[in-house]
Amino acid sequence: MKARLLIVDDDVHILAALRERFLARGYQVDTAGDGDAALRSVRQQPDAVILDLQLPRRDGIAVLERLREDGVETTVIVITAHGSVAKAVEAMKAGAWDFLEKPFEAARLEEAVGRAVERSRLRRRDRAAAAPGGTGEPIAKSVVMQELLATARKAAASDATVLLCGESGTGKEVLAQAVHRWSPRAHEAFVATNCAAVAETLAESELFGHERGAFTGADKRQVGRIELAHRGTLFLDEVGELPATLQSKLLRVLQERAFERVGGRDTIHVDTRIVAATNRDLAAAAAAGTFREDLYYRLAVIPLTVPPLRERREDIEPLARAFVAGFGARAGRAMTIDGEAMRRLCAYRWPGNVRELRNALERAVVLCEGDALSADDLPPEVIVADELPPAGFHAQAEAYRRRLLVEALQRCGGSRTKAAELLGLQRTYLARMLRQYGLLDQV
Ligand SMILES: Nc1ncnc2c1ncn2[C@@H]1O[C@H](COP(=O)(O)OP(=O)(O)OP(=O)(O)O)[C@@H](O)[C@H]1O
Ligand SMILES: [Mg+2]
Repeated sequence: MKARLLIVDDDVHILAALRERFLARGYQVDTAGDGDAALRSVRQQPDAVILDLQLPRRDGIAVLERLREDGVETTVIVITAHGSVAKAVEAMKAGAWDFLEKPFEAARLEEAVGRAVERSRLRRRDRAAAAPGGTGEPIAKSVVMQELLATARKAAASDATVLLCGESGTGKEVLAQAVHRWSPRAHEAFVATNCAAVAETLAESELFGHERGAFTGADKRQVGRIELAHRGTLFLDEVGELPATLQSKLLRVLQERAFERVGGRDTIHVDTRIVAATNRDLAAAAAAGTFREDLYYRLAVIPLTVPPLRERREDIEPLARAFVAGFGARAGRAMTIDGEAMRRLCAYRWPGNVRELRNALERAVVLCEGDALSADDLPPEVIVADELPPAGFHAQAEAYRRRLLVEALQRCGGSRTKAAELLGLQRTYLARMLRQYGLLDQV
């Protein structure tokens, strides 16, 4: 994308000459003849501004001060009269990034503008890296998510254990981090551990640590994740996958905040806040006996269920805008989404939830050649998706059916045959609905 340059000078001849010069170098150029016009033109978000200090209506220093007050981020090169070093210093203090003294060679101005544009791009990229999908605040507009976040905030103030349930990609980890940040432990460590990622023996020493010589290969003492989370927050991701032997050891940590390292005799006490997450239906697993029931109740002190994205469609638009702005900025581009593309995004089912949306938009931003994403930039499955009815009767009916299915399965310990009987449905019909609602992997 072309770099955008704003040139501010009250001398029309200089304006015209500089404009020609930078247009010929491939810049997109705006011009302004006085301070007020400059402030209006800055709304176009130029990558660099060339600002003469002597201007009618509002001089260059006043323009700089105003930009700073308004929090406008741009990179300004000021042009000062010969011999006015004091003015240049004043301008730099007011937020200018570079200055040139008159008379100057055009080549020097070109260099300065090149550097300024590069700086703006880097800053935009930094801001993007800090923004979407990172450790930023969860984005939420829907009423369900607003309520969920409000509950999470209240929970964060206490030390109560939080259990986050929800399909893959709904934002459980984002929420776990938010609970930590909103808690009094925010300045201590957030220690994440994935209970499914490692083999059973490794999982044990990863969580609890081990003493030297505890097993073959244990040539050093290792401190486990639980100990590392002392005073902070321990995030147990995919807790539903924790091997049965470790479930009882974890139960003791939850009850007494105490444990022993593998091969160790000393009891270690920790002060840690626990947040766990799972995409399984742990209540059903507990009822079915595949997950310790007592552990389930200890984990689910504050159970929070993050709904799938298709059940909170109001969140799609703000999420999409944030992702596109973020990925665009990372590439140094100011990107938006056109109306048709947004309509498509809002109509699709998003079986992979927010993660799928994020990935689709990351790819779309790369493919898109202009500065507004269109439907053509979206993945084919999103484009061909059937129109979904607007949230209303049908969406609510679907949510209700879904709940009936989940509840029946829970009551029957995950047995489809029994659930079908309970609901008075054919087993094959039940299976079809489970597939339709993406509930197959919950049983
Ligand atoms: N509310 C949100 N605001 C901003 N980004 C979000 C939000 N929800 C999810 N994301 C982003 O979507 C992606 C998936 O989120 P996350 O990893 O938290 O999901 P998850 O529920 O832990 O998934 P899994 O069960 O597969 O581990 C991440 O890139 C995350 O940053
Ligand atoms: Mg996760």
